[in-house]
This record gives sequence, C-alpha cells and structure tokens, in this order.
Amino acid sequence: MPTSPPADSAAVAATRPLAGRDFLKELDFTAAELSSLISLAAQLKADKREHTEVQRLRRRNVALIFEKTSTRTRCAFEVATYDQGGHVTYIDPTSSQFGHKESVADTAKVLSRFYDAIEFRGHGQQTVETLALNADVPVYNGLTDEWHPTQMLADFLTMSEAREVAAGEASGSAADGTAWADLSYCYLGDARSNMGNSLLVMGAILGADVRIAAPRELWPNAEVQAAAHRRAEESGARITLTEDPATALAGAQFVHTDVWVSLGEPASVWAERVELLRGYRVDAAMLALTDRPDTAFLHCLPSFHDTNTAVAKQVAELTGLDDGIEVSSEVFASSANLAFDQAENRLHTIKAVLVATIGDRSG
Ligand code: CP
Repeated sequence: MPTSPPADSAAVAATRPLAGRDFLKELDFTAAELSSLISLAAQLKADKREHTEVQRLRRRNVALIFEKTSTRTRCAFEVATYDQGGHVTYIDPTSSQFGHKESVADTAKVLSRFYDAIEFRGHGQQTVETLALNADVPVYNGLTDEWHPTQMLADFLTMSEAREVAAGEASGSAADGTAWADLSYCYLGDARSNMGNSLLVMGAILGADVRIAAPRELWPNAEVQAAAHRRAEESGARITLTEDPATALAGAQFVHTDVWVSLGEPASVWAERVELLRGYRVDAAMLALTDRPDTAFLHCLPSFHDTNTAVAKQVAELTGLDDGIEVSSEVFASSANLAFDQAENRLHTIKAVLVATIGDRSG
C-alpha cells in the first residue's frame, strides 16, 4: 500500500535545496544551507526527546564504508537511519572488494543499484569525490584526511546550544544567517588536517570569529587558507592564524582541540609532535587566557585525557604527560567540557543530513 509522505515541518522545508545532494566538504555549501542543517538537527533532537519523531527514511537503505575505525560516526549513521525507519549495511576495511579488487568508480556504480545513499570514511578526499562523481545517489564524507564536515554540524549545534543556554534563549535560531556573527572560537593544536581545516572553513562560511593557534608548520595549507579568506570576505568572518595561543584565546567563547597524532599516523611521530605542540596543550592555565568565566571546551573525540588507553599510556611514558596529552585531565573532567554533548550531536546532525538529502518530503 503506498503511503503519503509526512508533512514537512518548517525545518525540513528549509532544507529542500539539499535534496539529492552529496555532503563532501563544507566549501560546497552556502551559509544558509549549512545553517538549515543545524536547525533541522535541533528540531530532530527535540522530536526524539519528545517521542514525536516523524520517520522519513522508510524504505531507504544506506551503505556505510569505513576504511578507518570509528565509534561516533558509525553509530550516528546507524542509529539515525534506524530512528528514521531505514536500514544500513556496514562495510569494514576488509570485508568488501572496495579499493582492492574493484575500483572506487565501479563500487560507486554497483552500490547505487542497491542503496539510496553511501557514506565513506577513509584517507584521501579524492576517494570520496570519485565515489560521488560515479554514484547516482548522495555520497557523504564521514571523515577524510582533509575534511570532517559531519563533525562540523555537530560542533556548531553544540556551540549554538551552549550560547542559547548562556543567554537563556529558546532554541532554533541557528538558521538565521546572522546567528553566527558574534560566535568566537579558537582551535589549538595540529591544524593541518581535517579538524583544523574544517573548523577554519566552516567558521569562515558562517561568518564567525575563528582563531587558529599552532606552530606555523602545522597550519592549514595555503589552498585551504585562501578558500577560507575568500568565504570570509563574503560572510564577514574574522580569521586569525597565529603561533601565539594568548592572541588566539583572548575573549574566545569556545576552545577546540584534537589528538596530536591522527588516525593512521605511525607511533614514531609522537615524540616529535609532542615537542612541537606542548605549548598548545589545553590545561586550566591555557583556558584562563580567554579571560572569560564561561569559556567551554570542545573535542571531537576520542581524546587522550588520561592514561586509560594503551596509546595514551605509551605516550605518557615517553613524554611525562601523565595527566592528559592534548587536554589535561582537569579540563576534561570540568564542567567546561562539552565533548559528550558534541558526541551526542553527531547523531542528530547526521540524521539531519540523511533526512535533508534522501528523506521523504511532502508535495
Ligand atoms: N569524532 C569522530 O569522528 O569520532 P569517531 O572516529 O569515533 O567516528
């Protein structure tokens, strides 16, 4: 029996320009499009809490290709799809022909015959771009070396919620193009890869005050910086790249960091990386440089904030950082830490991407 599509809420209707689109990197989108996804995520989060969620992914199947490990991204795609009435297939690095016996292009063509969308996490951005070029269905970037766009939606939803709580406002202002103009945040650490690139560019598109503090050799590359400056000219964003944490932190509402050695890098780089980044570690003294009592801390996770993982233990033995590496145990355990709200928001924001791009719509 055919069923009528559910009526569109205002938040769903605002994402209409995203129907059928890929989600590969932030630079592919306007500020209004990204803001509409964050607003839809806020709506879907409230709907789930109130048990009023409308299922828009019934009869939808999503392929999840993971060349690298994941907890949050995989679980968010799976639970988001299930919540919305759809199904997923998880494809791990060893259980398909992908990239070994079958080309990325051929895989895209095959999966397009089975699925309504394809998520990919892996190494080079080129792979997800090739998938998208050859697929007939939307392709989503679940993290590449260069970009982490679904993480950005969660980070901006989390910062938006924290600002609304601080201001005592009702939620739902994120789709307003002016909502980000007075947002300031700082990223401390290795800024050359996905998190540094994405935080720089996302803030530039949305018109925020973005500060990056890192040793110069760990700044985003010249192409990423140029793209950020171009988008900042359109949006009015303010961009600061500096080697001086105090300059970057002054007045910042939010402080982000990430692990100092990325997924896939060899353990041999730890000693050199720690020496480069020791002066950018987020501890209580570093947070105090914002000179604000309400500064909050964000981390995309996983984090080395104690010695309860084998890697963190090894690095602690190597470097003496036994109370957290990129962030101190004290900051991580404090009320300033929003990382678990941020982790939960991966679910709601990834659900927004799915609903916007492949969800049932009225009319
Ligand atoms: N933040 C993030 O992408 O987490 P996972 O690696 O667990 O997916």
